Amino acid sequence: MDHLTKYLLPETQLPAVWLNVLPALKEPLAPPLNPGTGQPIGPEALAPIFPMGLLEQEFSAQPQIDVPGEVLDIYRLWRPTPLFRARRLEAALRTPAHIYYKHEGVSPAGSHKPNTAVAQAYYNKQAGIRRLATETGAGQWGSALALACRMFGLGCTVYMVKVSYEQKPYRRMLMNTWGAEVFPSPSPKTNAGRAVLAEHPDSPGSLGIAISEAVEDAAGKTDTNYSLGSVLNHVLLHQTVIGQEVKLQMQLAGEDPDVVIGCFGGGSSFGGLALPYVLDKLNGSKVRLLAIEPLACPTLTKGSYLYDFGDTAKSTPLLKMYTLGHDFVPAGIHAGGLRYHGAAPLLSHLLHHGYLEARAYAQTGVFDAAVQFTQTEGILPAPESAHAIRAAIDEAIAAREEGRPRVIVFCLTGHGHFDLSAYDNYLNGNLVDFEHPDEEIARSLAALPKVG
Ligand SMILES: Cc1ncc(COP(=O)(O)O)c(C=O)c1O
Repeated sequence: MDHLTKYLLPETQLPAVWLNVLPALKEPLAPPLNPGTGQPIGPEALAPIFPMGLLEQEFSAQPQIDVPGEVLDIYRLWRPTPLFRARRLEAALRTPAHIYYKHEGVSPAGSHKPNTAVAQAYYNKQAGIRRLATETGAGQWGSALALACRMFGLGCTVYMVKVSYEQKPYRRMLMNTWGAEVFPSPSPKTNAGRAVLAEHPDSPGSLGIAISEAVEDAAGKTDTNYSLGSVLNHVLLHQTVIGQEVKLQMQLAGEDPDVVIGCFGGGSSFGGLALPYVLDKLNGSKVRLLAIEPLACPTLTKGSYLYDFGDTAKSTPLLKMYTLGHDFVPAGIHAGGLRYHGAAPLLSHLLHHGYLEARAYAQTGVFDAAVQFTQTEGILPAPESAHAIRAAIDEAIAAREEGRPRVIVFCLTGHGHFDLSAYDNYLNGNLVDFEHPDEEIARSLAALPKVG
């Protein structure tokens, strides 16, 4: 089957379990801490905003967790997703490398995010919750949760980072069409939002601020829970359907990847693709696992591995992760979904212990790659996904220069149909690169809580 363009799985091969890496780790993961006492917290501390079904997964020692039938029924609307061999891109690059991409943009919301949104809505519905509150950066996560809440008859409130709310009105309209209410963040609806507005009336917002608003909305109400689209263990767990399918599809292609590449915001899509390969790596596999982030938000490449809050208002537990500091407000670059100050603790742990590599790219080079991909493969990628494309192209060029083949797999996490204004800016030469200044990072990190 090495002549195909698409490697497709039948619905019967949809993964029936999620893979949990926690019990396989050689070094234990640093636990979340109570910011007041500095002591580790367990599931009960998070019960006011998350259902027990998800909290059990967050701390689970089971290597596999069954995907509930109702979740599988919804996954079947678009899963298994196709794996493509990028033959036309390979030809344009004159590379001996083989490039494969997993297309998660075929979901109804246009990205990988529904893989966890559907699971989260399911467990909240089981727990008797009637509404979910969340934040969204570029609008992909908000769209995914709006879709999932609609499928389970739950209300959905989305705090959308203001700069994206203004840049991406169609994402808001899509969420509204699925029945969600959407507010630009910082908003006057919450104490956290009002505090930011009082100090910075023109704040463009940040994921950290929007998380504070959504957590506050959920924390005060018994019928409402909070939902997070990345970072936490249970979110990464749900996303492992991606990597499990890729492994079956690479078997069809008769190849094993030398390098697996994903873009990185909080880490959910990267984790979803890479964690099944981490299990191999823990058993001696030499596969390289490469996370790509923007230079404007260089969490993994310039952040520090320390305990920090997940949000600006310091309402979350402390998580040990690569961080730029919880008051970090990134520049308004076009990869809105990659602008989080922190990173999944599980992936931070794996990076710290040498299982992962990280690299940062400036946005014009990323858009060069996105356009080259669109013009060869035909699919218009989300700017977030284009970070992985940039790296895949660079790996393929390196293979050409070294005269050595290599097998590259990356995740096309979403399509870019709602990002056309960014493409327009690029095509008209209006896109500028922005590197977050080192002094700003140092200032932000100096404000970190002193623990661990
Ligand atoms: C298309 C797309 N890819 C990637 C990401 C990054 O998120 P994560 O790092 O959780 O995969 C986002 C976030 O919104 C996104 O919209």
